[in-house]
Amino acid sequence: MKPIIRTETPQDYAAIAEVNTLAFGQENEAKLIEAIRHSDRYIPELALVAEIDNLIVGQILFSYIDLVDKETIKVLGLAPMAVRPQFQNQGIGSALVKAGLEIAAAKQEALVIVLGHPHFYSRFGFQPSVVYEIESPFPVPEDVFMAKPLTSFQEKSKGKVVYPSAFNEV
Ligand SMILES: CC(C)(COP(=O)(O)OP(=O)(O)OC[C@H]1O[C@@H](n2cnc3c(N)ncnc32)[C@H](O)[C@@H]1OP(=O)(O)O)[C@@H](O)C(=O)NCCC(=O)NCCS
Repeated sequence: MKPIIRTETPQDYAAIAEVNTLAFGQENEAKLIEAIRHSDRYIPELALVAEIDNLIVGQILFSYIDLVDKETIKVLGLAPMAVRPQFQNQGIGSALVKAGLEIAAAKQEALVIVLGHPHFYSRFGFQPSVVYEIESPFPVPEDVFMAKPLTSFQEKSKGKVVYPSAFNEV
């Protein structure tokens, strides 16, 4: 069944936390979402849920993170995203990523960064960030730290990614 993709509302917060806790098997991601919502990096139009028959089955959040070179620019960080376990592998995660990327492109955002599964994200055009001379702040394998340029991407959009404090609180 095709989900409705829409922006989150406060009525969804409990279900979003539940989906993340079930999908990740821990509460860290649900806490991260709350911390981002309370920060100045939250972007309401890029906090999306997937809904089927009034049930929240998936969630994705893009928020502003920093790309630091000579100047610091704000780019999008995709984190976290989750699909309710019994609804996984039915295209819901892909629908959420595609919807988010379309909104981000329409907002003239330059770049999206994600730390995640290369097998999943490469299908949307994410490549290891090193391809764009973008450095991860974490000591992780190169293929899991990925970037996807959008139409407003400029060659000078490179440097080291710095996550804001909301990401350190959890
Ligand atoms: C990752 C996740 C969001 C994908 O959502 P989904 O609705 O299952 O995704 P789709 O149905 O659109 O796509 C399924 C594809 O994702 C792949 N995938 C799902 N979980 C994966 C994982 N842990 N590692 C690698 N690939 C994964 C599947 O293998 C499948 O690939 P295929 O199409 O080649 O068979 C979902 O599985 C999930 O919530 N996982 C647990 C939490 C998590 O890992 N979140 C993402 C952090 S980066």
